[in-house]
Amino acid sequence: MAANSSSLNGTHVKTIAILAGDGIGPEVTAQARRVLEALNLDLAFEEAVVGGAAFFAAGHPLPPETLDVARRADAILFGAVGDPRCDALERALRPEQAILGLRAALGLFANLRPATLFPGLENASALRPEVARQIDMVILRELNGDVYFGEKGFRTAANGTREGFDIMSYNEAEVRRIATVGFEMAKRRKGTLHSIDKANVLETSQLWRDVVTAMSADYPEVTLTHMYVDNAAMQLVRNPGQFDVMVTGNLFGDILSDQASMCAGSIGMLPSASLRAWSGDNGLYEPIHGSAPDIAGQGKANPCATILSAAMLLRHSLDDEAAAKRVEAAVSAALIGGARTPDLGGTMTTSEMGDAVLAALM
Ligand code: IPM
Ligand code: MG
Repeated sequence: MAANSSSLNGTHVKTIAILAGDGIGPEVTAQARRVLEALNLDLAFEEAVVGGAAFFAAGHPLPPETLDVARRADAILFGAVGDPRCDALERALRPEQAILGLRAALGLFANLRPATLFPGLENASALRPEVARQIDMVILRELNGDVYFGEKGFRTAANGTREGFDIMSYNEAEVRRIATVGFEMAKRRKGTLHSIDKANVLETSQLWRDVVTAMSADYPEVTLTHMYVDNAAMQLVRNPGQFDVMVTGNLFGDILSDQASMCAGSIGMLPSASLRAWSGDNGLYEPIHGSAPDIAGQGKANPCATILSAAMLLRHSLDDEAAAKRVEAAVSAALIGGARTPDLGGTMTTSEMGDAVLAALM
């Protein structure tokens, strides 16, 4: 077969970098890797250290070798970074700098965080089941700018008082780039876009709102609604069904996506894709939860968010929609069959949950 012969000389083998990181990162990525392997695609895996694990092994949270592995790969499966033992380090050496550094170095500006309620998880949601059932949305978070990447530091006023500062800013091009993804996504989904800002207080948000408003003329098929972030946080628990695509900045997206995860059952369920183009080559895929050091190594973590991130990897970086759907269907079937880790009210271990997904893979 042509596909086989070309895979023999390596042209069709896709390389997946696995950056497992800290805390529960290794446990959850191991299960996602099992699922990817079970698909029998031509995949090669390359592991590299990142985060606190990399700091302890190599003196830096994002060693140059790890960045090379990430750059070479067709896609990156990322676990989590964060280690309380690193809290006193200077900021440049803290584990979190690894993921921020990867996002910046690879230009991954578009972060897709879909929040949907899987059937059977109504009672795991922090919301009433009839409200929770309505959630089917994507939070589109800008990932390369905002207060995350502005000038920051400490200064001492004349009276000796110490002060910390972080500058928030967006330029027009940055807003246009992420809003374009938002409008395009809205066009392909339900035709509604919510743009979330704080334009009643912040100039950064006023510029954001002006740019998005001007762009909406080019998307007559999309209904644009602006919403202040405080109201959006309230609406997300009051009536999440009103949202389909939500586009927002780096900081607001970070906060709203954690909130959306609990509306959809558990933070252990939400995947994400970080892309540098609408078409999505060389993306990075990670669960939105963190390293959860309190439960690390105990087999308590829910691997579904990472397995669903692997599904997004198949969809956006390997252009394999069929395989992505297979993985998502397997997670759904496992949950319908009653598979539950502790975050979902069950007793399964991380690897038992992986087993259940594998068993459901058709
Ligand atoms: C996330 C995380 C990261 C962020 C941290 C680990 C730097 O909370 O991906 O949501 O704030 O972006
Ligand atoms: Mg976060």
